[in-house]
Amino acid sequence: MATQLQDVPSALLSDFDIVGDVGLVADPQQRLLETLREDPRDIVYTPHNGGHWLVTSHELGREILSDADLFGSFPIGIPANMEQRPRLIPLESDAASHRRYRRLLLPIFEPAAVQRLQTGAETLAQEVLDEVLPEGEFDFLWRVAKPISMGLFVRQLGLEPERLDEFYAWESGFYRAPTMEERIECGQNIGAYLSTVVSQHVEHPKDDIVTMLLNVEVEGEKLSQEEVQSICYLLFLASIDTVATMLSFIVRHLARDQVLFRRLKEDRSAIADSVDELLRMHAFINLNRICERDTVFHGVAFRAGDNIVVPSFVTDRDERVFADPDAFNADRSKREKNQHHAFGAGAHKCIGLHVAKMEVRVVLEALFDRIGSLKLVSESAVTGHGGTTMGLDAIPIKVTLD
Ligand code: HEM
Repeated sequence: MATQLQDVPSALLSDFDIVGDVGLVADPQQRLLETLREDPRDIVYTPHNGGHWLVTSHELGREILSDADLFGSFPIGIPANMEQRPRLIPLESDAASHRRYRRLLLPIFEPAAVQRLQTGAETLAQEVLDEVLPEGEFDFLWRVAKPISMGLFVRQLGLEPERLDEFYAWESGFYRAPTMEERIECGQNIGAYLSTVVSQHVEHPKDDIVTMLLNVEVEGEKLSQEEVQSICYLLFLASIDTVATMLSFIVRHLARDQVLFRRLKEDRSAIADSVDELLRMHAFINLNRICERDTVFHGVAFRAGDNIVVPSFVTDRDERVFADPDAFNADRSKREKNQHHAFGAGAHKCIGLHVAKMEVRVVLEALFDRIGSLKLVSESAVTGHGGTTMGLDAIPIKVTLD
C-alpha cells in the first residue's frame, strides 16, 4: 500500500500544494522556487493532490528519472490517478515496449526530419507576427505563442485548424479541470477524436506525422492502428501547448532582462546558442514517477504506489549543479548544459526536443527581426498556474517595431 500521511515522519512533512497554492497564480515559477528551494530538505511529503513526495535536489531527481525499473511512469500526472484511460505510448509503456516504441519513433523526430518542418514554422511565425505586432500591445500567449505552436501541431498531425480552441480546452481540462470526472471526460474527448483521425488517415494517407506513424517500419516491425492512436494521444498532450508555454516564459524573461534583450537584438546569431539556457531557466514540467516497490531512497522509505514529483524548474536552479543558477549564462560548461531537466532525463527524455528547440528558435528569430523594444504591460497583469505542467495564462506585452 502506498504511503499514508500518518506514516510520514513529521520531519519530512510539507504543506505545499503544487496544483492549488494561490501564490502560483501570480507567478508559478517564483512561488515554486521560493517555497521549495528555500526549504533545505531534498525530499518532503505533501498530503495535497492525493499525497505525494517532492524531490527538489537535481542529483536525486535525476537518479529517480534514470531508474525506470524502480520508478515507473504510469500513471503520469499530479494527482496520479487517471487510470480510466489507455496507457500513453511511449511515456507510460513498460521498459521493454518502450525501447521498441522509441526505435520506431526516432526516425520521425530526428534532427534531419525536424529540418523539414522548419520552413512551415518560419512561414507561420512570419504570418502571425506580421499580423499581430503592428497592434503594439497584445497578449503574447494568446495572440502569438498559441496560434504558432498549436497551428504547427495541427498541421503536423493533419488535424482541423478551426477546432484549435476545442483542442486546447480538452488538453488543459485533462490536466487542470476542477473535478476528476471533468478531467476524464476531456481525456475521452481526445481519445475519441484521435481514433477518428487515425481511421481517416488509414483510408486517406496524408503528408503528416499520423501517416508517417502508420507507415513507419524498423526491421520489419510496424505499429498497430491502436498503438498509433495512443501515440497521437500522447503527442496531443505533450506538444499542443508545451512550446507556447515555453515561449511565454521566455518572452517574460526577455521583457524583464533588457540587457539580454539588447544583446540578442544586436547579435541574431546568439539566439540559437541561448535557447538551451533559456529552456533550463524556464523548465515548467513537474515530472512524476510511481515507485514500483517498497524501497529506502537516500534514507527515506518510499512504498510501492507512491507518487514522486520532481519539479524540473526547481532542480534546474540547484546551485550544487548550476553555478549562479538564477543568472542567464549561455556559456555554461558542457556538463552543466547537458544536465537540465526541461525535457526530462533518462529513458523518457522528450523525443520531440529537436522540434521544440527549432520552434522556439524560429519564433525568437522572427520576433527579434521585427521588434525594437519589448516590455510587459505590467507585472501584475501576468498570471499563471501550477500543476503537472505549469504555465502562464496571460502575458500582456508592449512592443515597438524596428
Ligand atoms: C518546449 C517544449 C517541450 C517541453 C518542455 C517538453 C518536455 C518534455 C518532458 C519533460 C518529457 C519527459 C516526461 C517524463 O519523463 O515524464 C517529455 C516527453 C515527451 N515529449 Fe516533450 N516537450 C516539449 C515539446 C514536445 C514536442 C514538440 C513533442 C512532439 C513533437 C514532444 C513529444 C514528447 C514525447 C512523445 C514524449 C515521451 C517520450 C518517451 O516517453 O519516451 N514534446 N517532453
